[in-house]
Amino acid sequence: MLIVQISDIHCGPMFNGDSFRTAVEEINSLSPDLIVVTGDLTEEGIRAQFLKAEGELKALRAERVIYISGNHDYRSTGYLLFREFFPFNQVTEAGDVVIVVLSSARPDRDDGEVGHRQNLWLEDTLAKYRDWMKVVAIHHHIIPVPDTGADQITIIDAGDVLRSLVRSKVDLVLCGHRHRPWRWMIENMQVVHAGSVSCEKLRGFFHHSYNVIEIKDKKIDAKLKIVGGEYVDFKDVINKREHIKAQTS
Ligand SMILES: [Fe+2]
Ligand SMILES: [Fe+2]
Repeated sequence: MLIVQISDIHCGPMFNGDSFRTAVEEINSLSPDLIVVTGDLTEEGIRAQFLKAEGELKALRAERVIYISGNHDYRSTGYLLFREFFPFNQVTEAGDVVIVVLSSARPDRDDGEVGHRQNLWLEDTLAKYRDWMKVVAIHHHIIPVPDTGADQITIIDAGDVLRSLVRSKVDLVLCGHRHRPWRWMIENMQVVHAGSVSCEKLRGFFHHSYNVIEIKDKKIDAKLKIVGGEYVDFKDVINKREHIKAQTS
């Protein structure tokens, strides 16, 4: 099972179309089973930007594409538009992998919240998938990410969410929002944060990027791919100082 995670497209004034289209070409050549788009498809949640996002994203080729809303998509009552342009199921089964989406964006707020009821729903839902590989995708980062400055835009109930994820024996969490790729291990759970695939605003890792994740024999191999560039092991993200001077493509 090959999953590609792209995030933080930001159709609007900071959208870099060259990067996005290069990424689409690369991703399509991988023939992924599944693409997960972890939010902020637009900058301001307005209709023209949703139309632009729809036009750009339809170039992606995969058996399934899962769309998740971000805080930027929920600006300007964009939450009403998001569900029209990018409908999705909250639970997707693919082979022996289940992918569950948590909604963390709230209208006109940059921080996020999962909420007690959604946490309970997550635990109940994943209890039915005991022997499956369990992937949870959410827009906001659930733990702070290095090299991103002061962090006031995480989810406000991160502790409760982490407890539900660990209690449910989730194997992999996919987050966006911070525009900085990173990975944390919590117990046996990988928490993979995506950089931005096409927004000019980047933090601490100055390339557009996306994540390529292979799940095989109950093992997860997650790698970072620089758009138009090399694959980078998450262990090496912080050591790659030469990336600081490099231009995004
Ligand atoms: Fe973003
Ligand atoms: Fe965001």
